[in-house]
Amino acid sequence: MLFRFLPLFLLPLPALSSVTVYGQIPLAQTATAASSVDPAAPAVTTLAAYNDTVLNPPPVPSPMPSTAYTIEMPRDAAAVPGLSIPHVGAAFWGFSIEMSVINQVLGKNSSFIQVPFLNLMQNLVERAGGVVVRLGGNTQEHATLVDEITNHTVITKEKTDLSQTTRTPAVLYSLDLFYLANNISHLTNVKWFMGIPFNDSVNWRLQIAEHGQTIMGDNLLGLQAGNEPDFYDTNGHRTETYSPFDYFTEVGSLINAIDANPNIPNKHILIGPSLGGGGNGWSPEQVWDTGFLTSYGDRMYALAVEHYPNNNCFVQFGVGSLVIPQEVFHTYLTHDAGKQLVAPYLNSTMVAQTVKKPFIMFETNTASCGGFQGISDSYGAALWALDYGLQMAHSNFTNALMHIGGQNVFYNPFTAPPTNQTGFNQWTVGSIYYSALVAAEVFGKSNTSQIIDVGANGDSVYTPAYAVYEGGTLSKMALFNYIDDATGASDMTVSISVPNAGVPASVKVKYLSAPSVSVKNITWAGQSFGGRYEVDGRLKGDLNIVTINCDQAANACRIPLKAPGFALVFLSETDQALSLGQATQTFATTAHTKGRNTATVDQKVLSTSNGHSEKDRVSLGSTSHGSMNGAFGGETVVRAAMGVLAGVCAGVWVLKGMMR
Ligand SMILES: *[C@@H]1O[C@H](CO)[C@@H](O)[C@H](O)[C@H]1NC(C)=O
Ligand SMILES: *[C@@H]1O[C@H](CO)[C@@H](O)[C@H](O)[C@H]1NC(C)=O
Ligand SMILES: *[C@@H]1O[C@H](CO)[C@@H](O)[C@H](O)[C@H]1NC(C)=O
Ligand SMILES: *[C@@H]1O[C@H](CO)[C@@H](O)[C@H](O)[C@H]1NC(C)=O
Ligand SMILES: *[C@@H]1O[C@H](CO)[C@@H](O)[C@H](O)[C@H]1NC(C)=O
Ligand SMILES: *[C@@H]1O[C@H](CO)[C@@H](O)[C@H](O)[C@H]1NC(C)=O
Ligand SMILES: *[C@@H]1O[C@H](CO)[C@@H](O)[C@H](O)[C@H]1NC(C)=O
Ligand SMILES: *[C@@H]1O[C@H](CO)[C@@H](O)[C@H](O)[C@H]1NC(C)=O
Ligand SMILES: *[C@@H]1O[C@H](CO)[C@@H](O)[C@H](O)[C@H]1NC(C)=O
Ligand SMILES: *[C@@H]1O[C@H](CO)[C@@H](O)[C@H](O)[C@H]1NC(C)=O
Repeated sequence: MLFRFLPLFLLPLPALSSVTVYGQIPLAQTATAASSVDPAAPAVTTLAAYNDTVLNPPPVPSPMPSTAYTIEMPRDAAAVPGLSIPHVGAAFWGFSIEMSVINQVLGKNSSFIQVPFLNLMQNLVERAGGVVVRLGGNTQEHATLVDEITNHTVITKEKTDLSQTTRTPAVLYSLDLFYLANNISHLTNVKWFMGIPFNDSVNWRLQIAEHGQTIMGDNLLGLQAGNEPDFYDTNGHRTETYSPFDYFTEVGSLINAIDANPNIPNKHILIGPSLGGGGNGWSPEQVWDTGFLTSYGDRMYALAVEHYPNNNCFVQFGVGSLVIPQEVFHTYLTHDAGKQLVAPYLNSTMVAQTVKKPFIMFETNTASCGGFQGISDSYGAALWALDYGLQMAHSNFTNALMHIGGQNVFYNPFTAPPTNQTGFNQWTVGSIYYSALVAAEVFGKSNTSQIIDVGANGDSVYTPAYAVYEGGTLSKMALFNYIDDATGASDMTVSISVPNAGVPASVKVKYLSAPSVSVKNITWAGQSFGGRYEVDGRLKGDLNIVTINCDQAANACRIPLKAPGFALVFLSETDQALSLGQATQTFATTAHTKGRNTATVDQKVLSTSNGHSEKDRVSLGSTSHGSMNGAFGGETVVRAAMGVLAGVCAGVWVLKGMMR
């Protein structure tokens, strides 16, 4: 949250405009994958999502933590103080999709859904029971319903000439947006969050609440009341004096408007305060202390915050100070990273329990302003996001959402190809999708999983570990080794022990593996989604589950753990998650509409819309004039001129990539 002001003269618009994002992505083909990749493909590697940078791993720490250590965990949860709340209902990690890239990621419209997206969701659904996805971001504040969008897309941008405009071009959406989301929910168990436009707190625009509820019913879980209100002052949405109490008053006004609206049947699914926090942001306590929870608690579906650990705004927009990825890589490769991120919220997750509300990290990723090349898509980031997620779960967050942009960000968990590439390229899975997949398995779908950070190996920041209890019994251990050491000297042997001769005869282990924290090729239990442009959302390769025989006489199961490495140890050989590789239900483009098991795919549409046709190359991804900013995480409307420039440019707004 460092850079909220962006003088107009600093905007590198010419550079940005060279990377226009194409928002209309047809269904990817699943049949002609690698064979049809054009070796002479244009310079897509210049797009951040496909950046090749490989950083140097940090050196082996000195002093080294012990490479052989014991974790003793009681069999019964009752003997373990500090266990988290049970994690219920949906995968811990869900996703946050900026409105302006919905066409790329979800699909063009309700009859034109991205099959790789369905497969990626289904892999989480079979592990965890469901997935939550938020459609929104700062663009939600000005989102405007229109009757119809030409070319049958669900989202487009308002046509404006930035050189003349005095306000932000709005994201325009059609009613079909709700049918698109609802159709996806019919195909796989995805539930949705959206946001009520908050730019105008006098004339509330409630169409998203009305149509969302009418069309999506219970598939719409919650509606954000404001997005990062603690930055409304600095980004020009409100006056400089805008305070937590002003926000409190506006939420009250919104509730009055909802109460007066007969077309909004469920008046109790708001989400707030969605603070950005950090730096100039508000603390959650400042909002709680307005009386927010006592006044509005029963109106809330969940409480939420949003936060990123760092930003890449200097490189993207020339503001703030330069962060060199190589220099900060090590800050992601330690258990302290996740602990520091959750620390400001520990009081609030307890407060949320007292009012019996979910507490959600609504938007996060490796770094705002698009993430860092070499970090955001590395195996190191996969370890970071998995540890951060488990740390949030340990700290009683109920879910967290990974933010997704277009092709011009480094941090996507998954990326659809640029429109004009779709004939020969497919999707790309980023390293942090694997973190979401593994976390889904860590908790499973029993709705009873409780987790605890066990402070392993003398609480070493390099070798964190968590224990998971299901139905009150120790069920899994999650073991990390952040150290990168190809010599093998930093490989660990983790001895798991259960009091009263409690270890079983053997345990099963799934590894999340890569040769180094720096690389991008990752396997989970031997399987992978494939490399860049090879992804259709299905795991490929043979499932490889390792059996470790325990030494029952010594009451020890000794688990080998590479440097770097992650192991998920299943103490029960009958754990259902053990059989899970690629989800049993998949979606293929050859499928026709036959009810629940198939995607809605019209072969005629498919054959004419693979990106070869000029009429299909429509620039929809961008929400600023001539640039690709729509793909940036958490876009922020930035007042273009402040201070001495205010007299000249007051009122000029530029919709830019986020400036957190
Ligand atoms: C990766 O991104 C960085 C930062 O934008 C850029 O300097 C570099 O040239 C890119 N590398 C590749 C191989 O695309
Ligand atoms: C877990 O919770 C979800 C949603 O609350 C419910 O749909 C599902 O049936 C539950 N599963 C079990 C095993 O109780
Ligand atoms: C979706 O787009 C296709 C192709 O442009 C079009 O034929 C179809 O009618 C659209 N569906 C809806 C519901 O708009
Ligand atoms: C998808 O949405 C359309 C509305 O555009 C609806 O007619 C159709 O039944 C939906 N299909 C499924 C599988 O829900
Ligand atoms: C809010 O945004 C809408 C859509 O862009 C616009 O029509 C309206 O004038 C805005 N209201 C205010 C107070 O800025
Ligand atoms: C936790 O938050 C509540 C509500 O804002 C506040 O009253 C209390 O002082 C906070 N406790 C701590 C330890 O910060
Ligand atoms: C999570 O909530 C449980 C139950 O209230 C509590 O015992 C535990 O201390 C909390 N964990 C953290 C890290 O706050
Ligand atoms: C695809 O679009 C990008 C961005 O506009 C452009 O640079 C590139 O040349 C296009 N490639 C083809 C094959 O049309
Ligand atoms: C992973 O990628 C690295 C280079 O980035 C390569 O050296 C290694 O052989 C690859 N491993 C696998 C299993 O493909
Ligand atoms: C629809 O496609 C046509 C032809 O490619 C294009 O000129 C027009 O701008 C598109 N409409 C929208 C709303 O993007």
